[in-house]
Amino acid sequence: MIGILERRERDLEQIKDWQIIQTNSKLRKELGRILDTEDDWSQLETLFFIAHILKARQVLELGTGWGDSGIAILYGMNKHGNLYSLDIQNYSQLRERINLLGLGDNFHFYQVSSLSPPEELLKMKYDFIYIDSNHEYEHVVKELELYCDLTKYIVMHDVIHEAETTQPAKAAFHFLTLHPEWNLIRLNTRHGLWLLYRL
Ligand SMILES: C[S@@+](CC[C@H](N)C(=O)[O-])C[C@H]1O[C@@H](n2cnc3c(N)ncnc32)[C@H](O)[C@@H]1O
Repeated sequence: MIGILERRERDLEQIKDWQIIQTNSKLRKELGRILDTEDDWSQLETLFFIAHILKARQVLELGTGWGDSGIAILYGMNKHGNLYSLDIQNYSQLRERINLLGLGDNFHFYQVSSLSPPEELLKMKYDFIYIDSNHEYEHVVKELELYCDLTKYIVMHDVIHEAETTQPAKAAFHFLTLHPEWNLIRLNTRHGLWLLYRL
């Protein structure tokens, strides 16, 4: 019991760091420069630090898109780490973009639905899993169930829209009701970034 409480304290310490880090606009600007955007992509900065603080070596991303979040994670994680990223679309020039940044060896892309991943990906463990694919409630519920045993940290994007919780957020609440060992922390970024974790 004491062990669990101590671990919880340690987790809270880490989370305090994350909140301080969110105010670090220098890094946000630097990521903006790398990603060629001046927009407020504060979730990228936070993803960078989650990868960094966890010293992540193995991360799974559902919803690669054009690679912004993947690049932020790759920059934050261990330089020998691997990011496995799934998307039903293969954006043209995604690979070229990642290679130009020197991250090609660390990035493993699969053009598949997040609900039909290759078997090999379901046999691995991940330092965290980032969910940002199809945002429909049923889809996210299935993703959470499919992957939750492979990690202790799940980060979810687009949980807030115009101050309202979205379908991914409702899926997270459903998941938390069924899995009391999982907890929720709301990270304060653009469109909301939620961290689900279990000790
Ligand atoms: C919001 S974008 C991802 C953005 C990316 N994570 C970033 O921050 O740069 C959502 C992506 O999910 C992909 N997607 C939609 N349905 C999917 C599915 N069933 N499996 C995997 N990816 C899916 C879309 O093709 C799209 O590229």
